Amino acid sequence: MPRQCGGGGARHPTKHKLMLLALASWSAGVVALPAATSPDGQKVLSPIGTESASRKLNGRFLHISDFHPDELYRVHTSTEESVACHRGKGLAGSYGAEKTDCDSPFSLVNATFSWIEENLKDDIDFVIWTGDSARHDSDEQNPRHEPEILRTNRIIADKFVETFSTPQHGLSIPIIPTFGNNDFLPHNIMLPGPNKWFAAYSDIWSRFIPEEQRHSFTFGGWFYVEVIPNRLAVFSLNTMYFFDRNAGVDGCAHPSEPGYKHLDWLRVQLQILRERGVKAILMGHVPPARTESKQNWDETCWQKYTLWLKQYRDVVVGSLYGHMNIDHFLLQDVKDLTPELGLDRINARGSPDETISISSKEDYLQELRDVWADLPKSVARGLDQETRVEDDEGTAKNKGKKNKKKKKKLGKIGGKYAERYQLSLISPSVVPNYFPTLRVVEYNITGIEDTPVWRDAYDLANPPTALALPEEDTRDYENLEELLVEIVRKKGKKSKGPRKPPKDHDLIVPLDPPKSSLPGPAYAPQVFTLTGYTQYFANLTHINDDIPDLDVSGFLDINKWRKGKHDHKEPKHGKPKPREFQYEVEYSTFTDKFYKLPDLTVKSFLGLAYKMGQKDIGAKSETFDAYDEDEDSDTDEFEDGAPESMGKKDKQKNKKNKKEKNKTWLKFLSRAFVGTVPKKQLEKM
Ligand SMILES: *[C@@H]1O[C@H](CO)[C@@H](O)[C@H](O)[C@H]1NC(C)=O
Ligand SMILES: *[C@@H]1O[C@H](CO)[C@@H](O)[C@H](O)[C@H]1NC(C)=O
Ligand SMILES: *[C@@H]1O[C@H](CO)[C@@H](O)[C@H](O)[C@H]1NC(C)=O
Ligand SMILES: *[C@@H]1O[C@H](CO)[C@@H](O)[C@H](O)[C@H]1NC(C)=O
Repeated sequence: MPRQCGGGGARHPTKHKLMLLALASWSAGVVALPAATSPDGQKVLSPIGTESASRKLNGRFLHISDFHPDELYRVHTSTEESVACHRGKGLAGSYGAEKTDCDSPFSLVNATFSWIEENLKDDIDFVIWTGDSARHDSDEQNPRHEPEILRTNRIIADKFVETFSTPQHGLSIPIIPTFGNNDFLPHNIMLPGPNKWFAAYSDIWSRFIPEEQRHSFTFGGWFYVEVIPNRLAVFSLNTMYFFDRNAGVDGCAHPSEPGYKHLDWLRVQLQILRERGVKAILMGHVPPARTESKQNWDETCWQKYTLWLKQYRDVVVGSLYGHMNIDHFLLQDVKDLTPELGLDRINARGSPDETISISSKEDYLQELRDVWADLPKSVARGLDQETRVEDDEGTAKNKGKKNKKKKKKLGKIGGKYAERYQLSLISPSVVPNYFPTLRVVEYNITGIEDTPVWRDAYDLANPPTALALPEEDTRDYENLEELLVEIVRKKGKKSKGPRKPPKDHDLIVPLDPPKSSLPGPAYAPQVFTLTGYTQYFANLTHINDDIPDLDVSGFLDINKWRKGKHDHKEPKHGKPKPREFQYEVEYSTFTDKFYKLPDLTVKSFLGLAYKMGQKDIGAKSETFDAYDEDEDSDTDEFEDGAPESMGKKDKQKNKKNKKEKNKTWLKFLSRAFVGTVPKKQLEKM
């Protein structure tokens, strides 16, 4: 019996039994609870369990990120960066100023939730909400302040509750929030907890953080939710403690650092989940990007995290992030792990501003591509041969030899399931730096369709109460000077060259997966494996409908318009006359002819990365053409000539291959910027 299909109970070692019992009692919903008042203060009439017949798993969840709501946004103000759609005259649209650095008007926030309510509400099992629900600090005349940041966050949190609640039962699905780097003051700087921000958010997110996780939340800002009780947990990582730009902390190597404590906590939880047979999705705001010019996380955090994911590759289903605003993915390579776990490295890499322009984002994406270009050939050929060899079994003459060769090749990528790599999926944002967008991810629920859902177990009898903080630990950094001194102290520590391993450094390497365990859901299709996603976007150019002379000036001019280059001109209508707001499908991996992803396993993305890394396939003698087989299905969006006739096909094959690779890459770039950058511009990238 595959272990991931087993129930929780039987295999637990005794030492964890008590803890497990404690965990199970709330999550399984077996404890008879009296009728009570729900967290939203509504009278709850029916006892737990009576709703289980009405709510079942759908095998789908929503990933939404970076709302950046801005109370100061005004329609038809200037989109100039320093003004941020707050003042002046210009083309700030009714639902937001697409392709600018302006933040989101509440009209966009409201319309997004309305759309979710009408189109997704009953079809999803949980929501992954990856942070940044406050505006940027870009308007010098209107610096951000604490009440505003907490207020906009509370509005969004309440919107989630409103959208996913029924009058009788309150919240019907779990929502998992996490800290973005703009959700506190000053942005990027999060000091160790407990602190006033964690106290504030434990109230704002009180309906989302399980009762028994409150303590660890107020201590470190992290928690997890069993979104499917006893089967699947979602971990809200506090990536602020890994974030390289957080000068208030210092990485993950020193036991005194919150980053160290966070990863320690994660290790222990993943171990417990392994023993219970529960799987985990990890989510956070800042992704573990690590290229030549951009390193998001402190190296010591990256190293440990990558090591943890390697060791818990049987438990972790996937990792989802936001922050970057561009649609892309990352592959972590366990070959980049060093014995010193990052302590040997000076923090020498530059960290460009977080509001990076398209051109530096383009550099960043090119750097990813350069790494993909160096992926071992066996990625594509080995993985593909795998299926071919298996199909041919029995007829193959030199089967033994072939298999040996195959094994050797596959060894380079961590075996048949490419376990050398890990995948981070990064969803673009609601804030329309490009177009507003959101993502619906699907996962495999074969065999668990009737399992009790979160709603069945939700602890109605224990409505959240405001948490009193342990007084001696509550540090209040109202005093800015005190804060700055702290930051400078930390910074000084940071820049003193290679850090020495702390004396009390005592790395606990997590245990390997049990010998008998099968590859995890991130590596081989099984229950909980992410099977695909659909990316939605709202075409604000169309919806706002206020760009004058669209037909004459074309798309590039729109960019100039929105960028505030023509603020002296009037919008198309005197008054805003937007069209009806809606999200539409940008692409779906289930039907996509470019990515051709059979599922969202590491292996599938590795194949895609390899394919895009091939810049100049013609120069190499060997080509890999498995992805080019059904050429007829390719749309010609990035093709100039007419479709080729069958006869020419072979001759053209090499050229076609080359084109195909670039086509996929161009599509990837186009999607990174949510379809806002015209083909001509993409080709120059
Ligand atoms: C958005 O919705 C809230 C109610 O949830 C309402 O108070 C607010 O006025 C709305 N804002 C806009 C701009 O529609
Ligand atoms: C879903 O999981 C089941 C059970 O492990 C498996 O048999 C099936 O192939 C999976 N489906 C997909 C589409 O991956
Ligand atoms: C968005 O709408 C504009 C105006 O209608 C149109 O020109 C453009 O092609 C659309 N973009 C996408 C990606 O659909
Ligand atoms: C593909 O892209 C690479 C680099 O982006 C470029 O050097 C090459 O000429 C392109 N090939 C084709 C066939 O367009």
